[in-house]
Amino acid sequence: MQNLWSAVDRYIDDTLVMQDEALSHALETSAAAGMPVFNVTPAQGKMLHLLALIAGAKRILEIGTLGGYSAIWFGRALPPDGKLTTIEHNWKYVDLSRANIAHASLSDKVEVIHGKGLDVLPKLQGPFDLIFIDADKPGNPEYFQWAMKLSRPGTTIIVDNTVRGGGISDPNSEDSSVQGTHRMNELIKAEPRVSATTIQTVGDKGYDGFTLIRVLS
Ligand code: DHB
Ligand code: MG
Repeated sequence: MQNLWSAVDRYIDDTLVMQDEALSHALETSAAAGMPVFNVTPAQGKMLHLLALIAGAKRILEIGTLGGYSAIWFGRALPPDGKLTTIEHNWKYVDLSRANIAHASLSDKVEVIHGKGLDVLPKLQGPFDLIFIDADKPGNPEYFQWAMKLSRPGTTIIVDNTVRGGGISDPNSEDSSVQGTHRMNELIKAEPRVSATTIQTVGDKGYDGFTLIRVLS
C-alpha cells in the first residue's frame, strides 16, 4: 500500500498543494543535513496552514521545529502582525530552520527559540491561538499540559504522530512514544475544558495520524 499512498500524495501535491521554491528548499536542506524525515508532508503542511487560517490565528506556538518546514506553512497563515514561536532543542536544526525561514522571508514573523520544550515553555507568555505539538513523543503529556496553560477558550491544539502505525491500539505497548501518547490521551479524556478527536492518516510517511483539540473554556 505504501507505493499507492505515496502516489496519491504526489497527485495531491501536484493538483492542490503546489508548494513553492522556499518550501521545497526547506525539505531539500533538511534531507541534505541528514535529518530524519520527521517533517510533515506537503499535504499535511498545507492542512496546518489551512487550520491556522480557519482559526484566524495571530499567535502560534510550535514545539519541535526541525528544519522549519511546518513553520513556513504556519508563518504564511499569519496576518501582518502575527507571530509564530517555535522551539527546537537541537542546535543543528535551530541553525537550519532559521536559514530556511529567512529564505522564505519570514524571519520577522517567526522566532526559533533554542532549548528543550520543558525549559522554554515556562518562560513563554500566553495565550496562543494555535499550538502544534510535534516534538519527542514521550513528552506529549507534559507538552499537552503546557499547551493548556498557554491557551485560552477557543485555542486549537494539534498533536502530530498520535497513531504510530496503529501502535496506539495496543494498550500494553512498550514503545515509549505510544506510551506517551496514551498518557496524553488520558489527560485529554479527564480534561473537561477540551473537545478532541484523532484522525488516522496514510501517505508518504506511512500510517500515522494527528489529534485535534479545541479548548472550550
Ligand atoms: C517521528 C516523529 C515525527 O514528528 C514524525 O512526524 C514522524 C516520526 C518519530 O519520532 O518517529
Ligand atoms: Mg511529526
